[in-house]
Amino acid sequence: MESSHILTRTDGAVRIVTLDRPQKKNAFTIAMYEALTAALASADADPAIRVVLLEGSGGVFTAGNDLTDFMANPPSGEDSAVFRFLMQIVDQKKPFMVAVEGPAIGIGTTMLLHADYVVASRDARLQMPFIGLGLSPEGGSSLLLPRLVGMARASEWLLFGDPIDIESAREAGLVNAVVAKEELSQFALSRAQALAAKPAGSVLLGKRLLREGLRAELKQLMLQEGQHFVERLSSPEAAEAFQAFFSRKR
Ligand code: COA
Repeated sequence: MESSHILTRTDGAVRIVTLDRPQKKNAFTIAMYEALTAALASADADPAIRVVLLEGSGGVFTAGNDLTDFMANPPSGEDSAVFRFLMQIVDQKKPFMVAVEGPAIGIGTTMLLHADYVVASRDARLQMPFIGLGLSPEGGSSLLLPRLVGMARASEWLLFGDPIDIESAREAGLVNAVVAKEELSQFALSRAQALAAKPAGSVLLGKRLLREGLRAELKQLMLQEGQHFVERLSSPEAAEAFQAFFSRKR
């Protein structure tokens, strides 16, 4: 589906999904969330597919939500495309792996908390700039991040929102491996193929058991995060921060 900027291809039992809007740093539009959600659901339903690998094109993973889209078509709640995407990754049955190159901002970082394996290039940079944008933590980050990296780092990363260098992310356990930029695609694909070659039933069960204990609590929390986020989107603080981003461009 070219118009949605989401490309899919298959390599053996691996479905590779590419965010392909490089001129806007792969920033997510509503159509992209919808197409990505559909691609993940279709991989889950396809018996020939065992693993999904998500990547970005043009040397960038994603600049997060498209800020113009946020202003023009703000998500309104559980029925919004972004919320459905987040629920899809929480409920995804098959392993979901991510290859991160360059910036991974906002939801580009928080979606990693739901991934089963993350490999990044040395130039990758994570960032959750929600507070500086007048918004609030999303994607389950207010629950999952402190559990994963401890409260000190979670608070620093979410409240200050500064870029996180990739070695710190790896040490903290947010990223599994860091490789040279030129090796990223091949390394990610080989890890995906290795997982796809394992006994499929056990892989599905293992993933489910790792995530199941927290799922209900996580979904409940994500509903709350979503409500706050929607409210914050219409705040004067957010309007001012978004304006500042776009005026810095001129
Ligand atoms: N929403 C909408 N447009 C975006 C965008 C976003 N999140 N991120 C980048 N773009 C657009 C820029 O406006 C620019 O468009 P233009 O060429 O029409 O002016 C184009 O993508 C290239 O971005 P630019 O900022 O020039 O590239 P860069 O390499 O200097 O910086 C980023 C890349 C990703 C670091 C920077 O664009 C950025 O910080 N983006 C915003 C990230 C963000 O706050 N996301 C929201 C999280 S909730």
